[in-house]
Amino acid sequence: MKGNHIGEIISTHTPELFKAAVEKAAALLKSGKVVALPTETVYGLAANAMDPIAVAKIYEIKGRPAHNPIIVHVCSREMAARCVREWPEAAERLALAFWPGPLTLVLPRSALVPDIVTAGGPTVGVRWPSHPFIQAVIAACDFPLAAPSANPSNELSPTNAQHVAQKLGSKIPLIVDGGQSQIGIESTVLDLSSGPARILRPGIIHEESLLAVLGPGGLARMPGETAPSPLRSPGLLRKHYAPKARVLIRNWTSEEDLASQLAAESFSPEEAYVIAHTHIPLRQDFCRVCVIPHDAEAYARAIYNELHRCDEEAAKLIVLEKVPDTSEWQGIADRLKRASADEE
Ligand code: TXA
Ligand code: MG
Repeated sequence: MKGNHIGEIISTHTPELFKAAVEKAAALLKSGKVVALPTETVYGLAANAMDPIAVAKIYEIKGRPAHNPIIVHVCSREMAARCVREWPEAAERLALAFWPGPLTLVLPRSALVPDIVTAGGPTVGVRWPSHPFIQAVIAACDFPLAAPSANPSNELSPTNAQHVAQKLGSKIPLIVDGGQSQIGIESTVLDLSSGPARILRPGIIHEESLLAVLGPGGLARMPGETAPSPLRSPGLLRKHYAPKARVLIRNWTSEEDLASQLAAESFSPEEAYVIAHTHIPLRQDFCRVCVIPHDAEAYARAIYNELHRCDEEAAKLIVLEKVPDTSEWQGIADRLKRASADEE
């Protein structure tokens, strides 16, 4: 029998490969190992959520602080219900509307969920992902999977198998390649554990879509409008999701305007990796200009890939064109703000 090479990447693009990969991933997970799996949002670092020793390995591999709880991934409403103590009507409606998909519901935890998954807290985040591979693995395991994004703590989330291999390849036995993540940013995290629903982390499923299901007044104020209590959700830390370069977010009207703004701050254009969606600089003197379409879904799908590329090329300065201030861009604006958090 073949041994497991550290960081082995396996493909899933034919039915045979898919089936073999499900079996291999499920066997490792059943024996308490940690593996990287594709989801539609970002790649996850998965372990048996009911096995505290396996989950402890996730914290160790990521260098994740022990106070940061991990999302539990399920493949049915019933499996979700087993992880929580209450299943309010709002959860039922949201699950009907958005599951499987990029929405995590935070609910009072059931006694079955180990302390280490919830970081000792009274709630658990539950998500039914839509990616067929992770669904098949959860079904084969018949237990839920604890899975944070498959990156070292505080760094960029991976949106393909190569991103995982570069950052964690030496630490895990298996990376399953399920293609480029189709959503591209992490799930919306919605707290339903007390009072009106509250967005802890915005995402592609945004305020207006949630309100359409919850009804008027169904959402508490957004993060930013009110100071979140400390560590209520550690993903709300000011600096997070960050590439290694310095990140600036700017508006500009023309390439001359951009160049003069950079000059005013003593940056030279040659060191700038510009990521633009509307005002595209055409001059040659920027280090690189990346263009992502002015469309929130397409932008979300592409942005981490561009930021990873900047990391790989050891970029010193990334200049991001500010994104619109509308609800569909909220999740993206949130990640860009956190990526640039040490700017001041
Ligand atoms: O799209 C996603 O959510 C990806 C994929 C793999 O599913 N996962 C992900 O996990 O982004 P992670 O651990 O990188 O981010 C989860 C966020 C963290 O900010 C964590 O603090 C928060 O969700 N979270 C998890 N459980 C929570 C809970 N019980 N209460 C409050 N926040 C919670
Ligand atoms: Mg993460």
